[in-house]
Amino acid sequence: MKILIAASEAFPFCKTGGLGDVAGALAQVFSRSEDSEVALFLPRYRNVGGGAFSPKAAGGSFLIPVGGRLEPATMSRVQWGRVAVYFIESQKYFDRPGMYRSNTGDYADNDERFLFFSRAVLEGAKFIGFKPDVIHCHDWQTGLVPAYLRTLYRIDSFFAKTAAVFTIHNIAYQGMFPRETLVKAGFSWLDFTPEKLEFYGGMNYMKSALVFADLITTVSPTYASEIQYRPELGHGLEGVLKSRTADLFGILNGIDEEIWDPATDTFLERGYELKNFARGKAACKKALQGELGLEENKDLILAGVVSRLDYQKGLDVLLKAAPHFLEKMQFVVLGAGDPGLSDALEALAAANPRRVAFRSGLNESLAHRIYGGADIFIMPSRFEPCGLPQMISMRYGCLPLVTRTGGLKDTVFYNGEPKDSNGFAIDHADEGQLRSVLGHIISLYGWHENWNLMVRNAMRGDYSWARSAGAYLKLFNIAVQRRQLR
Ligand code: ADP
Ligand code: GLC
Repeated sequence: MKILIAASEAFPFCKTGGLGDVAGALAQVFSRSEDSEVALFLPRYRNVGGGAFSPKAAGGSFLIPVGGRLEPATMSRVQWGRVAVYFIESQKYFDRPGMYRSNTGDYADNDERFLFFSRAVLEGAKFIGFKPDVIHCHDWQTGLVPAYLRTLYRIDSFFAKTAAVFTIHNIAYQGMFPRETLVKAGFSWLDFTPEKLEFYGGMNYMKSALVFADLITTVSPTYASEIQYRPELGHGLEGVLKSRTADLFGILNGIDEEIWDPATDTFLERGYELKNFARGKAACKKALQGELGLEENKDLILAGVVSRLDYQKGLDVLLKAAPHFLEKMQFVVLGAGDPGLSDALEALAAANPRRVAFRSGLNESLAHRIYGGADIFIMPSRFEPCGLPQMISMRYGCLPLVTRTGGLKDTVFYNGEPKDSNGFAIDHADEGQLRSVLGHIISLYGWHENWNLMVRNAMRGDYSWARSAGAYLKLFNIAVQRRQLR
């Protein structure tokens, strides 16, 4: 099967969050299946290239209509294991300091940037003669790919048998633009109806995908149900989703078990595995406390956070709760995003330098050391389509404390009985609930046997992609068969 993955980010080439991790991991995982051929299409942002990968020009250039103009696109290519990675290049759209935004906010022409990318994916596939059986698109940035396939490209025999599968990573970001974007994208006003491209008078890239994709997936079973039946989580698209309920599937993300392996992790002070985690984690914890200027004390519970700083993640709630526990706990937060949250975390750390550390920005290696050195990992998300840090932290024997939502609910089990638990959970991102569980954690921490039992449950979990890769491939087959029958 020829699989074309279209995404706006993929680790290790470009990443702002979990979408990048997942798109990169899926490309690798699909390529391991014997009968598959995988091409991954990404925009070539300014920071791509150099280092371990240097993409080579893929010859020639082609033109993409944007509004009344033709914008040139070129491509470059790099072989990444069995995956062929193609970068769509445009100085005008992608040679910028940020991927989606500048310091002052989202780029004003994101509609053009990603309609250009989506259409260039289709033109690029033709350009290199890669006729996909399935195009797997991710999030709103590639939402127009299914729409193009079933409208403007409907009569293009190159894609006559190509199925489109769309994966929702976060429905809170939909790519909403004014109606003028319809013209820029080249669609016909005839398709500007509520059943197709129109959304409250404008364009919505995510909705366009939900209407036109052959099959839709999202990144956990619980989120698949929440976005249909809890309007506050469906963000206005719950109706569209319900109309496609038979074609919507929740497939849990995995983590890359080679990148995230405490036994071989070279970022850690000392590697460890299930049978010797206690000594390994103690060494990692001490080193982390030292690195961050925190008191080096094994009896203080070290709580970690690695996160985008965003309302979604509920860290404002943690900020309120944390000061009540500083006698017994330390907190380290690594994150980037909202300046208000960042300032507040900075202030808390400045006032309690031996108890709280805040590091802003993206820092892969520190992230590894936090998972390795922390005792618990806090994720009080208001919603969480899947969430990767809770799985990474469990693999590192760091117990997650999460809200029961989305993928957190599907991966972290806590019912008060240590023998059946692999972490801690609260029902909502609520200060009272969080404080009550933090109190419980402090009392449990002294009972090493129960604590270690939970750590072992956490470390034993299967968070590999092996579980879910098969589910995707099965769905791809169904989508392809349906296409063939049309
Ligand atoms: P998101 O909603 O941000 O996509 P996920 O839970 O899916 O959240 O994934 C977040 C990923 O990004 C994890 O791999 C996490 O370790 C990583 N991450 C988040 N913030 C940072 C940071 N500041 N530095 C390094 N890695 C980070
Ligand atoms: C989104 C979600 C996150 C999920 C990630 C990868 O960014 O916020 O929960 O893990 O996508 O699917």
